[in-house]
Amino acid sequence: MGDREPGPFGPAVDETFLRGIPKAELHVHIEGTLEPEMMLDLARRNGLALPYASVEEARGAYDFADLQSFLDLYYKGMSVLLEKQDFYELTLAYLEKAAGQGVRHAEIFFDPQAHTGRGVPFETAITGIREALVEAERRLGLSTRLILCFLRHLGAEEAMHTLQEALPYKGWIVGVGLDSSEIGNPPEDFKEVFEEAARHGFLKVAHAGEEGPPEYIRQALDDLGAVRIDHGVRCMEDPTLVERLRDGRVPLTVCPLSNVRLRCFTSIREHPAKRMLDQGLCVTVNCDDPAYFGGYVAENYAALRDGLGFGREDFRAVAENSFRASFLDESDKERRLHEVASFFGR
Ligand code: ADE
Ligand code: ZN
Repeated sequence: MGDREPGPFGPAVDETFLRGIPKAELHVHIEGTLEPEMMLDLARRNGLALPYASVEEARGAYDFADLQSFLDLYYKGMSVLLEKQDFYELTLAYLEKAAGQGVRHAEIFFDPQAHTGRGVPFETAITGIREALVEAERRLGLSTRLILCFLRHLGAEEAMHTLQEALPYKGWIVGVGLDSSEIGNPPEDFKEVFEEAARHGFLKVAHAGEEGPPEYIRQALDDLGAVRIDHGVRCMEDPTLVERLRDGRVPLTVCPLSNVRLRCFTSIREHPAKRMLDQGLCVTVNCDDPAYFGGYVAENYAALRDGLGFGREDFRAVAENSFRASFLDESDKERRLHEVASFFGR
């Protein structure tokens, strides 16, 4: 099991150690950081009714059968976000927590269609988020990037429309991604949208192989030109694909607690993260929707220690991978990699 006790090779891999590891977070949906406390406060402030009378009731409802059952609650929950200030407070609260867990760099997804679809202007959401990113960079000393995700269940035409809406803000958005209900909404449907996004200089990532088959990971690479795969855990069913991902050093943004809570695996002990790492894949560890899945990035690290026996060298590898796989420029990557090296002692 992981090195929980201090040993000849260094300090115990305890919670303080895990939080102290300098790391990048590459897979977090800002709307998935909406804690029930803030959800209820915002509902009150904005005069909206929620199906939950208390924080405990909300948490009690977070028992998911699969991705879709989570998404149904996730879209309902975020309906309390109406004003720029709401998006600002949400984003700042996440970044404060992340900074307290050793996150030096955060690449954050947002789902504009989940807001514009209920009458909240694109501008309201993005300016609230952007102002918090700027404030956090100044105050907390971390760096950030913003990634616009298309909701795949709404189809390619809606995605193209959203891309057009994003263009006036393109200086604030590093890339595009693809999320929401995976099965039945294959990456190949979004080929043109991603081509158009690339023409405007956006980098490309995509959720694939979370619930969907390995073939969707192939499509994300071949049809979308994704440079990073979000989740990607089902690649393990296809050795040829594993070889391709390994040889191409394609980063996978793995979210262990999410996968267990959405029943992609029956328990953390069944999660393939350790096998993925041992097979040479570029695994990074992330939180996805921490308010819904029981923890932020440090809790995901702890789950890997407790459930899969991750030790110091595994955590060193995932921390290094997180910066290598990031959209930081090369000199910032090097600076952060030095920080990781001095944390682990080299
Ligand atoms: N949107 C928010 N979380 C998601 C996940 N885990 N998969 C797909 N879409 C999402
Ligand atoms: Zn996700």
